[in-house]
Amino acid sequence: MMTPGSNETERYVSWYSDVDSGTVTLLNATGTKVNSFDAAANPTPQGDYRLGAVISGLEAGKVYSYYCQSGDFRSGVYTFTTDNDKSFTAMYTTDIHISKSDEDENSIRDRAYNLNTVITAASVKAALQGNTVDLILSAGDQASDGLREEYVGLCSTPYIKSIPFATSIGNHDRKSVDYRYFTFQPNTAKMRLKSYVGTDYWFVKGDVLFLMMDSNNISMADHRRFVKEAVDANPDIKWRVAVMHHDLYSARIPSRESENQFLRMMWAPIADEFGFDLCLLGHSHYYTISNVLYNNKTVTVTENGGTVTNPEGTVYMVSGSINNPRNDDDIGLSENIGHSYLTEEKIYNLIDFSEGSIVINSYVMESDEKIGSLTIEKTTDEGGHTYKTPAKWYYPLIDIISFIAGFFNNIGRYYDNTQLGFKIPLFEGLFG
Ligand SMILES: [Fe+2]
Ligand SMILES: [Fe+2]
Repeated sequence: MMTPGSNETERYVSWYSDVDSGTVTLLNATGTKVNSFDAAANPTPQGDYRLGAVISGLEAGKVYSYYCQSGDFRSGVYTFTTDNDKSFTAMYTTDIHISKSDEDENSIRDRAYNLNTVITAASVKAALQGNTVDLILSAGDQASDGLREEYVGLCSTPYIKSIPFATSIGNHDRKSVDYRYFTFQPNTAKMRLKSYVGTDYWFVKGDVLFLMMDSNNISMADHRRFVKEAVDANPDIKWRVAVMHHDLYSARIPSRESENQFLRMMWAPIADEFGFDLCLLGHSHYYTISNVLYNNKTVTVTENGGTVTNPEGTVYMVSGSINNPRNDDDIGLSENIGHSYLTEEKIYNLIDFSEGSIVINSYVMESDEKIGSLTIEKTTDEGGHTYKTPAKWYYPLIDIISFIAGFFNNIGRYYDNTQLGFKIPLFEGLFG
């Protein structure tokens, strides 16, 4: 699997191995060796290793290939391209839900095949528009039970060996512990109140700072510190895009309303304080694009096919699920939604990022119908953003609330995981 590096000069590459050392060999466009990079070994609960190597020193606008070696294993050769300017296209997807099933022995295979089909459709659509898919953003629930077999299925598509694949952790990914060993990511956050399995990380591509966040972890003071450090480390980057799992604004699923209101209270102030341009979310499996929101209210209504220039707030978007599409058409919508589309077919989204704009286009794979689009323009680095400094007492108070919520969340996980044959330690996570 290839994951974005800290910026376009790097790529992170990882694989499972029986031995605790390995290398990645980097080749140029003519097949000549450029460099080789040692992999670090992370022992897994299965008794083998997750090897991870950082390919660095990449030049802009070049074609490279690489292969991985460990013990007797040598991978295929995979080709990738680096961007040569600040424009690139990302495919945004969510809730891929590769699932192991007792009833269907082909479930992992079939669902992985669906993912491969959707990435192919997105790649063809991008090519018809004169672009390539340069990044895949996945907003959580990559796997339904968080199992290693499911992640191996996810990685069976060749695309994610050549296109950097950036995941956020969903609630289903933390049903086991394998996500922790599967992922290999740059700039990971150290959380005082851990959620064991995933964490926040950031990377820069083009003129965009991507903040990949763990919305299972309610420790908002940790998240805020992470965002502040990422923003301070990248003061000249124009766009800020958060990718996280929980759908702050999307379907109004009755059983989730109070959770959503709680999560909005916790997360929206961070988007407001740091002027997030776009939040890409998941969880509801319901395609929605919000209005421009600030302080939990609509400041500008977004229209399907429209453009917002210098928005004074954040757009929140949720895509449908490739493998578990929502077919429940009597669910309502949160307030502040500009455009929505409910389908049992597979949705993919192409997002064109450039210095001046973010252009979102969404399609249904089966019918090839364009179901939604929105352009966000900024004419200055700030656009129309208002930044809101919270009151001095706000984060200390949120720290206490999130400590209590996180403590009970961790107790829940401690008991949940006894069914898996092991226990996640109860106290390690508290300020560990
Ligand atoms: Fe999901
Ligand atoms: Fe979810």
